[in-house]
Amino acid sequence: MDRIAVNGRRRLNGEVAASGAKNSALPILFATLLAEGENILENIPDLADIHSTNNLLATLGCKIQFQDNKCVILRPKIIATEAPYDLVRKMRASILCLGPLVAKEGSAKVSLPGGCAIGARPINFHLEALKKLGAEIKLEEGYVFAKAQRLIGDRVIFDIPTVGGTENILMAATLAKGETVIENAAREPEILDLANCLKGMGAKIEGAGTSKIFVQGVDELKPTNHRIIADRIEVGTLLIAAGLTLGRVKVKNCNPTHLEAFLDKLEESGIKIMKGSDWIEADATQLQKLKPVSITTAPFPGFPTDLQAQFMTLMCVADGTSLIQETIFENRFMHVPELLRMGAKITINSRLASVQGESALFQAATVMATDLRASASLILAGLNAEGTTRVKRIYHLDRGYENLESKLRHLGADVTREKDI
Ligand code: EPZ
Repeated sequence: MDRIAVNGRRRLNGEVAASGAKNSALPILFATLLAEGENILENIPDLADIHSTNNLLATLGCKIQFQDNKCVILRPKIIATEAPYDLVRKMRASILCLGPLVAKEGSAKVSLPGGCAIGARPINFHLEALKKLGAEIKLEEGYVFAKAQRLIGDRVIFDIPTVGGTENILMAATLAKGETVIENAAREPEILDLANCLKGMGAKIEGAGTSKIFVQGVDELKPTNHRIIADRIEVGTLLIAAGLTLGRVKVKNCNPTHLEAFLDKLEESGIKIMKGSDWIEADATQLQKLKPVSITTAPFPGFPTDLQAQFMTLMCVADGTSLIQETIFENRFMHVPELLRMGAKITINSRLASVQGESALFQAATVMATDLRASASLILAGLNAEGTTRVKRIYHLDRGYENLESKLRHLGADVTREKDI
């Protein structure tokens, strides 16, 4: 196993480019199951979750090539429609192969993803919606068995704007007979990116990015060439690093409109934010201390839950008390015990964390990563701390951040990856 060592108290300064978005690349990789032939996807990030997805796609019959410009070429000739437990358990987003397989092949056997550290994460909304489109769904021995001669378009109303549920149904509806209307759809930028990729394949989609999406089913989709959008969660993480070190960081190749609620909260804390069409700069060099800011996570366009842990780290060194309400997942405060070991003052009541910020510093310590975004929050705390912080179980970080330590080093941080024997 690896760990990351951070020698803190170095002011970050400089420019860095954002990588492609994990949460856009994953559904789009599965979408290539819908269009036989040569799909060329660009700006695919080099992440553990991407490799897991490619392993699953290969078992389903895809041929995949990586090229130096991060291009992945997929020629899906589907030879199997089973996503086995030992692959799905490594990455729960594998459930996103369900919609495409049922739509394209008429059947699928996909292991139930099970929960993860941050919550139970059921897929009931995915399954109810597929049934609404005419799929026959059975749950046996920990697997979802789904089949349909041909899906029939219908109206699907989600109880909550589920990102994965919207993506699964959007992909399935592209080859259904007739019109599908998805109401209370998720509005995340990654949904719009998926829809744009599907439209490039010939799908007929209107309203993606809003809470009501219309899909006119077609008989066949063609392969496409698509560039993945920037990872807004990586961008937010790098901007918070500027705040924690009273530095100045410019992130290029990104889209400021994907982070408006988050950027408003950074500005409220006193960090100066400047934006261009494809860049964002956070400048904390003139700050004496950060102001405390309360947040409530929400579906897009609200404050993203995937930046909650990182923002909490920032609030630990703000000058006063802030409240952090997590509304999306039931167990997304596992970074808190580790931050407490670094000197933070945080109390939790169910899904509400009260952070008693002090503009003192974190205390360096050896801490344990528990999940993807928690691992980023601990590295951020290390950037602020006096001394060497060691973050163990860094495989969590490698699931969703491409070369984060080299990007931080490029900005002036003293961050190294070590063997953790
Ligand atoms: C996606 O997960 C992201 N993952 C998550 O990012 C992100 O936190 C989440 O959306 C919310 O924005 C990918 O895109 C691969 P949901 P997803 O369905 O699709 C409940 C990261 O750190 N729910 O919108 O699983 C669910 O339990 C990851 O990059 C049901 O109850 O999120 C959760 O409480 C973490 N039944 C809430 O809805 C369902 O059928 C939101 O889940 C589906 C969801």
